[in-house]
Amino acid sequence: MTATETAGRGERVADWLDGRVGIHSLGRKYLRKVFPDHWSFLLGEICLYSFVVLVLTGVYLTLFFHPSMNEVTYHGSYVPLNGVRMSEAYASTLHISFDVRGGLLIRQLHHWAALVFVAGMLTHMMRHFFTGSFRKPREVNWLFGWLLLFLGLFEGLFGYSLPDDLLSGTGLRFVNGALLSVPVVGTYLSMFLFGGEFPGHDVVARFYSLHILLIPGIMAALVVAHLILVVYHKHTQFAGPGRTERNVVGTPFMPVYLAKAGGFFFLVFGALTLVAAVATINPVWVYGPFRPDQVSTGAQPDWYLGFAEGLVRVMPGWEITLWGHTLVLGVLIPVVVFPLLLVFIGIYPFLEARVTGDKREHHLLDRPRNRPVRTAIGAVWISLYLILLAGGGNDIVATRMHLSINTVTWTVRVAVFVLPAVVFVVTRRICLGLQLRDTELVLHGRETGVIKRLPHGEYVEVHQPLDQAELHTLTAHRRQGERVEHEPRPELVEREPRP
Ligand code: HEM
Ligand code: HEM
Repeated sequence: MTATETAGRGERVADWLDGRVGIHSLGRKYLRKVFPDHWSFLLGEICLYSFVVLVLTGVYLTLFFHPSMNEVTYHGSYVPLNGVRMSEAYASTLHISFDVRGGLLIRQLHHWAALVFVAGMLTHMMRHFFTGSFRKPREVNWLFGWLLLFLGLFEGLFGYSLPDDLLSGTGLRFVNGALLSVPVVGTYLSMFLFGGEFPGHDVVARFYSLHILLIPGIMAALVVAHLILVVYHKHTQFAGPGRTERNVVGTPFMPVYLAKAGGFFFLVFGALTLVAAVATINPVWVYGPFRPDQVSTGAQPDWYLGFAEGLVRVMPGWEITLWGHTLVLGVLIPVVVFPLLLVFIGIYPFLEARVTGDKREHHLLDRPRNRPVRTAIGAVWISLYLILLAGGGNDIVATRMHLSINTVTWTVRVAVFVLPAVVFVVTRRICLGLQLRDTELVLHGRETGVIKRLPHGEYVEVHQPLDQAELHTLTAHRRQGERVEHEPRPELVEREPRP
């Protein structure tokens, strides 16, 4: 009897597959792949899992959502809107919310997952920014990630425009205003997007194709490319004993990482479902259907686009006339600044490499304090995002805190210039202070609080020297200005941590 004949059924299936798709050699190469262990790696996983949840719930929603702006009269089970004329898109969203089994839960899950997805991407991005993992050879992967963030912002905007309720219609009017402010081609762009005068009859159907097909397709391809590059480059890791620029220390993919990641997927899915089950989000039935002659008060985009709204709200309403054409600078300047703020982050790895002249490969991560200028730039970027977010909600801030809206708007106008400068200086000083503390710790050890009296009467505090591992971590970085020759590309060796 040959070995194949004696093999069990599972083994024969594996053998059959291996002969056709080379699964064995693939598995041998990648199943033992090593992953360094650090809580911040979970942020990338949160992005991945919430994206999966978005696709799953999105597919369910497509079964019931009608992307049409044809007018219908509502006779569903939400009585307050009975007999009201509305678009089919809005009526089908009400149908999903009140009549489809589990519909409201899935809608809310989709929306909450979208909010967490973008929050995950922003925190994942800033973690990679602050630790410098975007440096050579990972600049392209940074760009892939950045594209995912950029597409994610628009995917969210298109998504919440679909139900055609009064809130999302107000958001579309904002988009229309931004397009109209573009010189020369503004009117053309608006007509092109809306298929005629705003709001037209096409926009929901158009956004639908973009939202369920084109953008998620590109995003899925980018996620795969992003992860392939993570595997190809191997992971960066924080400095520590035994960790060098030439190795990766961590636990193997199979079984340790797979078990952890699998469990974490269900944790993320479960947490999102719990929030979706108990916290209302986007109750479109309260807003009513979109009518171009109405605007809801307190209209806000989802949080991640709040900074774009803030730019427009705090900008003075300047207008100039050039060669007989009116330029609405009050909208045009924010429309230009909005992408610039994002593009700056996208091209940052290339800017930094150019300014510092650092062309070396990096596989060990920086501690943010050891790169004070970069850390300060990151903090400035976050502070701008947050202050503009507050500007985007100037009406809400004013009503909640009983302030005049002008006070809020002027505070934000001043803060947009002052806050980043303050944040830059303070963050840089904090980093330098922390560096000094590290030096102190390395040289003199940790204070123990134990006071000793010496034979001649002097009192001294006993310091406990750091152990070798801590000393290594605190001194592993290269100091600024240190001259380093270009190094050859290291071949990273993977290994599991020594017990
Ligand atoms: C990757 C990112 C995605 C993001 C950020 C996103 C975001 C959103 C948001 C915020 C809404 C509004 C939900 C609401 O009514 O409260 C929405 C609606 C919708 N999304 Fe997505 N989505 C994504 C992917 C998908 C995918 C992959 C599909 C389908 C395959 C999909 C299908 C839908 C449908 C049909 C609606 C309209 C239904 C409704 O609003 O009740 N989405 N999306
Ligand atoms: C759909 C969105 C995204 C998903 C699913 C995703 C997923 C991941 C995962 C699972 C990892 C490996 C674990 C880790 O290092 O955290 C990773 C690494 C990385 N991500 Fe993302 N990411 C996304 C968006 C982004 C964004 C917005 C950026 C930055 C602009 C980014 C930049 C990076 C970089 C530079 C690495 C490599 C780091 C290293 O090797 O240590 N990613 N990503």
